[in-house]
Amino acid sequence: MEQRISRALQTAGAADAPALVVPSGRPEFGDYQANGCMAAAKKMKTNPVEFAKAVLEKLDLSDLAEKVEIKGPGFINIFLKREWLDDQLGSMKADEKLSVSQPETPETVVVDYSGPNLAKEMHVGHLRSTIIGDALARTLQFIGYKVIRQNHVGDWGTQFGMLAAFLALQYSIKQTENGLFFEAVSHIKDLDGYYKLANEWFKSSEENQQKSRDFVVRLQSGDPEIVPYWKEFCNLSLSHARTIYGRLGVLLGKNDVRGESLYNDYLPQVVKTLDEKGLLKESEGAKGVFLNEFKNKDGDPFFMIVQKSDGGYLYATTDLAAIWFRCGKGKEDGTVDWTAGRVLYVTDSRQAQHFAQVFTVAKKAGFADRTWLGHLAQASQGHPAPVQEAKTTGGTPVARLDETSKPQVSLEHVPFGMMLGTDGRPFKTREGGTVKLMDLLDEAESRAGALVKEKNPDLSEDKVKDIAHKVGIGALKYADLSQNRTSDYVFSWDKMLSLEGNTAPYMQYAYARIQSIFRKQDETSPACQGGDDADNGAIHVSEPAERALAVKLLQFPETVESVAEACMPNILCAYLYELAGAFMSFYENCPVLKSEGAVRASRLALCRLTAMVIQQGLALLGIETLEQM
Ligand code: ARG
Repeated sequence: MEQRISRALQTAGAADAPALVVPSGRPEFGDYQANGCMAAAKKMKTNPVEFAKAVLEKLDLSDLAEKVEIKGPGFINIFLKREWLDDQLGSMKADEKLSVSQPETPETVVVDYSGPNLAKEMHVGHLRSTIIGDALARTLQFIGYKVIRQNHVGDWGTQFGMLAAFLALQYSIKQTENGLFFEAVSHIKDLDGYYKLANEWFKSSEENQQKSRDFVVRLQSGDPEIVPYWKEFCNLSLSHARTIYGRLGVLLGKNDVRGESLYNDYLPQVVKTLDEKGLLKESEGAKGVFLNEFKNKDGDPFFMIVQKSDGGYLYATTDLAAIWFRCGKGKEDGTVDWTAGRVLYVTDSRQAQHFAQVFTVAKKAGFADRTWLGHLAQASQGHPAPVQEAKTTGGTPVARLDETSKPQVSLEHVPFGMMLGTDGRPFKTREGGTVKLMDLLDEAESRAGALVKEKNPDLSEDKVKDIAHKVGIGALKYADLSQNRTSDYVFSWDKMLSLEGNTAPYMQYAYARIQSIFRKQDETSPACQGGDDADNGAIHVSEPAERALAVKLLQFPETVESVAEACMPNILCAYLYELAGAFMSFYENCPVLKSEGAVRASRLALCRLTAMVIQQGLALLGIETLEQM
């Protein structure tokens, strides 16, 4: 409708005017309304109602609408055809992708998320990136993009020299035939405790500090005697992270880890390329790039350092290397078999400046040119690739491209705000310490478990555990994902576990309730068991509540697309909440099991489709459903 009405606006004389189609607020205004005529008419200095009439003349919606009319100052109200709704619902229900269609040329999207520093245990500060990134990756994948998950873990730097030195020198560990350090593994159960011990050891004597520094130097030069200790430490830390991912149901595996250290070989090349492009300057012994686009505190161009005076590289240098790698270098080198068309960086908003600067330098240096994608070849065939801009998704563009630049891979920072306690301050333990992620997950499950037992004391221990896990973890994720990620949000156990409001338990309950209809239906008409015509009846929408539910259901594909485009999972949560609401009022107003024949079959089919959409929607968010709660 958006496309067709926009085209009609154009034909009627308004160039570049969007149709602005939105769901209507009230049934008497139809199912949808297009609000674009008013603005277009204003621009053209003509009467909006007259203009809307001219648009209607150019518009043919007869295949899907039974009535299109002009109301008020120039709104176009659209009343969808019943048969069209029925048809659409039928094909949606028969499609495992629920009518979400794959883009014509699905590009490769890299989602860079979680990325903890391996020196310490994962804490609550890693939660948002991990769940938001995972939901986006799942959604993009479902739509049909080729998704590359990248866990850009911090595994390099002086800290790691110390940690590896401590491992090598304090524990008498031998390298076994298969390269494992069994003794160490059994010693290090508590990563933070280990870090503390190592730090104490380091600080306790000048000798230890010297040993540790020697270790760093040897590690950095790739000394084969030292490297295994560092590797072993990283493996220990990664297995801790994997335990967390497993409990959270986050799809980040071993192969998705591409830590900072893996870009080491590229760093000298990054600096060299910047130099070759005439971008590299020196200031106080350090090498970097002056950026007119950003000012330092004196109002002068910001100097982004890529190599310190002692020769060391920085976080930004590694990110430049990673961009280069992802946008084609990695494929050229034969390390990977993909090239990104879009890269999403899911980190907290404090890194916004960092990414804005890195993206700007990357563009200047040509690290994110689409050349590798073959888009230039395409462009020469008369299909110019869209010129993308480096941007902060959901925020303001940070670096526009000029007309002459090459098409760029879309580099997007996906920022999020902080998690606050109910006191409005950053979320901490009661003692004011950092909350370990493992502890947070334990608490989510035990709180959910207590609620389950209270409501249902007869459930078996196993059953309670299973429900507590799905509901507890689901609630934790949903509470985060349902917020507009760009702002801070207040983390409240009671609110997130509530069965009322826009929460995971509410959504899971809505799903379980629909499942119970099918269980009852099996009992009342055993002949239908196994589903024959149980829910396979054709859908015929007639009652207003059915119609409202139908229209909501059909909004699933466009909702999923907006989530992927804006990187905003909260759009999906808001949709699911509205869908559950539409279902509840349908269920109150339209008897399902008590109705008969075709009506019963149609209503059962609507129930089934609603359950499918809720289940799929929650799955895109990484949340499980339950048959019974
Ligand atoms: N390790 C980083 C941190 O803990 C996050 C990595 C984000 N990704 C990136 N390419 N810089 O803040």
